[in-house]
Amino acid sequence: PGNIFSFFWKYRGYYADGVQYTLLLSALGVLFGFLIGLLIALLRLSGVKILKWIAVAYTEVLRGTPMLVQLLIIHFGLASAFDIKFTVLQSGIITLSLNSSAYLAEIFRAGIQGVDKGQMEAARSLGMPRGLAMRTIIIPQAIKSVLPAIGNEFVVIIKESSIVSFIGVADLMFQANAVRTLTYSGLYPLVIAACIYLIMTLILSKLLNVLERRLSAGDIR
Ligand code: ARG
Repeated sequence: PGNIFSFFWKYRGYYADGVQYTLLLSALGVLFGFLIGLLIALLRLSGVKILKWIAVAYTEVLRGTPMLVQLLIIHFGLASAFDIKFTVLQSGIITLSLNSSAYLAEIFRAGIQGVDKGQMEAARSLGMPRGLAMRTIIIPQAIKSVLPAIGNEFVVIIKESSIVSFIGVADLMFQANAVRTLTYSGLYPLVIAACIYLIMTLILSKLLNVLERRLSAGDIR
């Protein structure tokens, strides 16, 4: 007893519980963010003015306001004004998904715009409808090229998911605070949480590097 390792060992159950929520929230946040973000990017590039305008407004509002405020509006604001009630976990996932989707939409837009124009022209000249060419030729190439950026977003979300502790989701941050309160120890519980976040992000970065190398193995460019 006395050192940080034995401290961690004593309270490992709290951290283990927290990590599960943190990983669940982050994975679902990025997954839904991916789907919504792709949709928003397509609206933005649709060429239809009103759709483009909606996509721009969506992105600007979600990127231009703090995620903490978004979380509180979704969890407390909607409940009080419209009687729309979510569990803390639902509110956490919704907030992370929406916030992440705005960042991912910009990533997708850049990726789609980065695909050589000749790809669409070639598909069109073969008689392929625009939508089909988009789905089967442009988007797959775009997604491949933005994979590193999506991975980066995943790392960001693992860290930023810590704000859900604010409304009482028992994630890693919440558990660290619980241990802090329980033990009256100001430093160890937080340093341990920081180390665990770091381990998660390091492992993820490593996995992403491997994936990236695998995917580009056959590239000529
Ligand atoms: N803390 C910032 C905020 O509240 C970070 C959001 C970053 N989100 C992201 N999906 N990359 O706005």
